[in-house]
Amino acid sequence: MKTILITGGAGFIGSHVVRLFVNKYPDYNIINLDKLTYAGNLANLKDVESASNYEFVKGDIVDGDFIQKLFEEKQFDGIIHLAAESHVDRSISNPMEFIHTNIVGTVNLLNAARHIWGDQMEGKRFYHISTDEVYGSLGEEGFFTETTAYDPHSPYSASKASSDHLVRAYHDTFGLPTVISNCSNNYGGYQFPEKLIPLFIHNIRNNKPLPVYGKGENVRDWLYVEDHANAIDLIYHKGVIGETYNIGGNNEWKNIDLIKVLCEKMDVKLGREKGTSEKLITYVKDRAGHDLRYAIDSSKIQKELGWEPSLQFEEGIEITINWYVENQDWLDNVTSGDYLKYYEKQYIDR
Ligand code: NAD
Ligand code: DAU
Repeated sequence: MKTILITGGAGFIGSHVVRLFVNKYPDYNIINLDKLTYAGNLANLKDVESASNYEFVKGDIVDGDFIQKLFEEKQFDGIIHLAAESHVDRSISNPMEFIHTNIVGTVNLLNAARHIWGDQMEGKRFYHISTDEVYGSLGEEGFFTETTAYDPHSPYSASKASSDHLVRAYHDTFGLPTVISNCSNNYGGYQFPEKLIPLFIHNIRNNKPLPVYGKGENVRDWLYVEDHANAIDLIYHKGVIGETYNIGGNNEWKNIDLIKVLCEKMDVKLGREKGTSEKLITYVKDRAGHDLRYAIDSSKIQKELGWEPSLQFEEGIEITINWYVENQDWLDNVTSGDYLKYYEKQYIDR
């Protein structure tokens, strides 16, 4: 029985990865380590919490002693590292959290893996989940490939870039069996409503303004979260040690066009007259250092590992909208308390 550590498993993508692994691999012991920050929510994993091959451990990856002891106790065979501070806007108002968790936290995990594995690295794997934002911003043309030079612009992307470099350094220097993937924007259920899609669905439903940064001309490449989880499964099992894989949806949208689609679909869903929700669109001050365009060339993972997205955007966005409309309790639960303070600081004082 292999023991796999998944960090950040109570977050958005992590919860989809935990669910996939717990259900698909009954012969793996899945340990989900999560600090349960504002973004971590055990309600995301209600359906697997009593599975016999699943265990939740509450803890902070920044606490090096705790991490070392946990690794000694559990003797992990593999690590899938998703825990991070993940929201660009929060990294602009509070960069230090990102430095601690994304950089120091990652190095603590690398050190602990080295410590327990020693020279016995056969069959072991440290998989670091990263973002396309490390590559910076594209103009109207071109795509990020695995060899695009790093050029991060926000404290979030700079902290992720830094952690990627450290993971590679531990491979090159100490022979740690690492693999990295850099993915584009994910969407789907269980995403905290600070990110564009769940925030705007929530606001449309509640007749609140839709705060579009700048002119809404920035472009993102959207991938359905379960397709990312499937890619993670494939890379964890078949990815080549020391390699990097880009993952993307080949699905670019200008923010304003995507927002209009959300408005149209929500009008239908809520039985509102066509055009009602679009009236909520409000242009606000742009995000500082706002990257213009991200677009991923995912031909390497497609050719070498046979991955491809399973859902077209039309289908994925329909499933996603339905999920948030049908899970109003989940949204109500995460948009109370501290969320209101965050919202006020981020949008009302803007
Ligand atoms: P998220 O913010 O929804 O979840 C992050 C999780 O990490 C939360 O459960 C949180 O409690 C936990 N966490 C935070 N700090 C921690 C700490 N110090 N110790 C232990 N746990 C801690 O993030 P997400 O959107 O699911 O992203 C997961 C990973 O995927 C991140 O590494 C992110 O950089 C990367 N990524 C995200 C996207 C995206 O579109 N969301 C795209 C590409 C890559
Ligand atoms: O590309 C991968 C990255 O995608 C991940 O690494 C990050 O963790 C994830 O948060 C996401 O980053 P973005 O900054 O692209 O996502 P966000 O949902 O915050 O914003 C998407 C776009 O929408 C971006 O151009 C900013 C814009 N936006 C966002 C918010 C929250 C708005 O116009 N208004 C908003 O209120």
